[in-house]
Amino acid sequence: MSRLVIEGGAPVCGSIAVHGAKNAVLPILAASILCDDGVNVIHNCPDLRDVNITIEILRYLGVKVTRMGNTLTIDARKRLGCHIPEHLMQQLRSSIIFMGAIVARNHKAKISMPGGCELGPRPIDLHNKALAELGCTIKEKKGYLFVRARKLKSKTLTLSFPSVGATENTMLAACLTPGVTVLENAAKEPEIVDLANFLNAMGASICGAGTSTITIHGVTRLHAADYTVMPDRIAAITYLCCAAVTGGNITLHNTVPEHLETALSELAKCGCRVEAQNHTVRLVAPPRLMAIENITTAPYPGFPTDAQSLFLAMLTLADGTSSICERIFKSRFKVAEELQKMGASIAVQADHAMISGVSSLKGAQVSACDLRGGAALVIAALAAKGTTEIDNIHFIDRGYDNLVANLNHLGANVKRI
Ligand code: UD1
Repeated sequence: MSRLVIEGGAPVCGSIAVHGAKNAVLPILAASILCDDGVNVIHNCPDLRDVNITIEILRYLGVKVTRMGNTLTIDARKRLGCHIPEHLMQQLRSSIIFMGAIVARNHKAKISMPGGCELGPRPIDLHNKALAELGCTIKEKKGYLFVRARKLKSKTLTLSFPSVGATENTMLAACLTPGVTVLENAAKEPEIVDLANFLNAMGASICGAGTSTITIHGVTRLHAADYTVMPDRIAAITYLCCAAVTGGNITLHNTVPEHLETALSELAKCGCRVEAQNHTVRLVAPPRLMAIENITTAPYPGFPTDAQSLFLAMLTLADGTSSICERIFKSRFKVAEELQKMGASIAVQADHAMISGVSSLKGAQVSACDLRGGAALVIAALAAKGTTEIDNIHFIDRGYDNLVANLNHLGANVKRI
C-alpha cells in the first residue's frame, strides 16, 4: 500500500496550472453516452482514480474510450448496455449519475447502489424522486435499482434540497424527453453549468444552469461535441491552503477566480494577500495566519463543504480560535482526530468544530479517511515540524492529478513510497 512521506517546513512557492475539475468531468463522461451520432472529444480530463473508474464503467457499457494525454475520445455509437455491476458502482458516489443517462438512452437501467467517501449518510432519495416524477418506475431488489421508463415525460419539478447529483441526473434524463422540463431549487454549482454547456454543445437546449431554475427543452437527438472541462476549484483551494499555511507565495494558472470567491475572501480574512486576474490567482501568505470565525458550509455560492477539511487543517496553525460549522455532510470532521495526532487542538461537537490555533504541528503517522480529509493531512504535514507519513492515500488519488510532482515543483519535500 502506498504512503506519502512529507518533510514539513518548506514554504510552498511558485506557480502551477490547476487540472480539470473532477466533479465536472464525471457527469460529463456519463452525459457522453447520450450521443449515438459521432465521437465526443473531451479535453482537460485529469488522470485520477475517479475518472479512471468512470472510464471503466463506460467500457463495461460498451463505449469505446481512448485517452491521449488529458484528452478523451468517447465513442458511444454502438448499442449500449443497461447494467452497471456492484464492483464498479461501489467505487464512487457519482456512479449514480449514470442512472439518468442510461435511462435517457435505453429506457431501462439496472445499477447497484453507489459507493464513495464515507461522509455520513448519502441517500439517493432525491435522485429517485426526480426520476420518478419524469416517469420512471424504480424498484430496489437485493442492493440493485431496477429503473424503467417506457416513455419519459417532461414536467415542472422541485428538489427539496439543491442536490448536485440529483440536479445532474434530472438534466441527463430530461434533455431527450419531449416537451419542457423545469427543475426548481436546482443546485447552482459551477459544475452544473459545465454539464449544461457540454450538453448544449451536443445540441441539447438547457437554460438557467447556475440559477435555481433550470429549463430543459427536450430535443430528439444529440450530436458529438468538442469540449474543454472547467478547472477544478477544490484542487485550486487545496494548493492555496498549502501556500497559506507554510508562509508561501503561489500563483495558480487555469482557474476561474469567480468560482473561488468565497474561499478567497476567507483566505483574505486570515491575512493572506490575494489577487485574481483573468484565469490566474496569486496568494501571498502572512508570517502567521489569523483565526477566522463562523465558516459555515452551504450549497454554492456558499462556502464549499469540499474545502472545509482543507481550512480545518490550515486553521490549526492560525493565531486565535476559529470555528467551522458543517451543514452538508455529517462526517466531514473525521480528519480532526488525525490532525490531533499532529498536535492540533480541535474540539468537535456535532456539526461544529472549534479550532484553537497552536504555534506548531509535529510530524506523525496518520491515515487519510476520505478524499478531502486526506488532502487536509497533506496541508498540515507541509507545515509541521519533522516527517509525516500518510497512509490510505488511495482516497487522495481519487481527486488530485500529479499532486506529488506539483508540490515538489513548489518547493515542498514529498515522496510517494
Ligand atoms: C457533489 C460532489 C461532492 C460535494 C457535494 C456537495 C460530485 C461528484 N460530488 O456530491 O464533492 O461535496 O456535491 O457540494 O460532484 N442528499 C440527500 N438525498 C439525495 C441526494 C443528496 O439527502 O438523494 C443530501 C446529501 O446526503 C448531502 C446533501 O444532500 O447531505 C448534498 O448532497 P449532493 O449535493 O447530492 O452531493 P453529491 O452530488 O453527492
